[in-house]
Amino acid sequence: MAKAKCYKCEEKCGKGKISLEELQKLEMAYKAFLRTDSKSLVKKYLTRDVFDRLKYKRTTFGSTLLDCVQSGFENPDSNIGIYAADPSAYVVFADIFNPIIQDYHIGFKKSDHHPATDWGSLDKIGNLDPKGQYVVSTRVRCGRSIEGYPFNPSLTESQYWDIENKMISVLNGLEGELKGTYYPLNGMTKETQEKLIEDHFLFKEGDRFLQAANACRYWPVGRGIYHNQTKTFLVWVNEEDHIRIISLQPGGDLGAVYKRFVSGVADIEKKVKVIKSDRLGYLNFCPTNLGTAIRASVHIKIPKLASNMTRLNEIADRYHLQVRGTAGEHTEAKGGVYDISNKRRLGLTEAEAIQEMYNGIVEIIKLEKSS
Ligand code: ARG
Repeated sequence: MAKAKCYKCEEKCGKGKISLEELQKLEMAYKAFLRTDSKSLVKKYLTRDVFDRLKYKRTTFGSTLLDCVQSGFENPDSNIGIYAADPSAYVVFADIFNPIIQDYHIGFKKSDHHPATDWGSLDKIGNLDPKGQYVVSTRVRCGRSIEGYPFNPSLTESQYWDIENKMISVLNGLEGELKGTYYPLNGMTKETQEKLIEDHFLFKEGDRFLQAANACRYWPVGRGIYHNQTKTFLVWVNEEDHIRIISLQPGGDLGAVYKRFVSGVADIEKKVKVIKSDRLGYLNFCPTNLGTAIRASVHIKIPKLASNMTRLNEIADRYHLQVRGTAGEHTEAKGGVYDISNKRRLGLTEAEAIQEMYNGIVEIIKLEKSS
């Protein structure tokens, strides 16, 4: 990662010092945000003192504090409320990112270092629900960012095209079980679009958190989806992150899903250089997706536990899991099906993140059985 040089820069980004207009806009937005009763992490940690220290800074890509916090300011119901406008924002705005990272990733301190990649022994991981009574489907995904580019709010239109073109040639080279087709959103026919939406593979346009983060500019330029023939391996291009690599299948066979995931990530990383920092592991747009950037989840039917959501959330917390609605975050559960996943992705290895999710889900199934 290039070292962030210019706090009040004239050097690299060419945008010069923060202008009076920029400062006034930031100050007004902050004052209005302070009046909300937001429960987000950015509200909790962006104190006046921290704000005053960071408001003049600009990263080497030209990004400001406002580029990072505008989504959280506009959406007081955010959980986190901050995105890194580019990789160096994690360094330049460390005073706000560090406490948020420590809170979200359950104790990862500013002096901590993310461990080296360790996928673990792939044959050890079993089926979460061998009888198929609870787990509807299992999914493992990670985010990756491509070296040399900023994140969404600071990407140019031609950089979106660049990233997509790079990824098309990488994806076209995938073989065996991973072999498939790339569908660009730009120029996609209604039919293809409907089919992909029906299969729940197509990401939605217009997530208000991403929109306010300036992450949806030039849509649908550079955006697209790749999947293999059996639709068990997917890659999203230029949605929230440059790439999201996803392995999924019906049922609870976490071992099979994880194996396919690991081979897909390895094949892709052979062909494209991704951004990794010594301290924070893989860097992505949202501070929730650092470190391993892995989210391993199930869609699970647990009607008894779900009849008391406070208790379900307490149980999830105990095992460092996160409960979401059926269609992911900020959604409701449909037909009693919940999305449950590992919460922390930073400060532990890939093998440990998967194991954490495995142990927690097995416990949740036990508790559902005995309820
Ligand atoms: N910015 C949103 C919030 O704070 C989403 C955070 C985590 N999710 C994500 N897709 N990055 O609630």
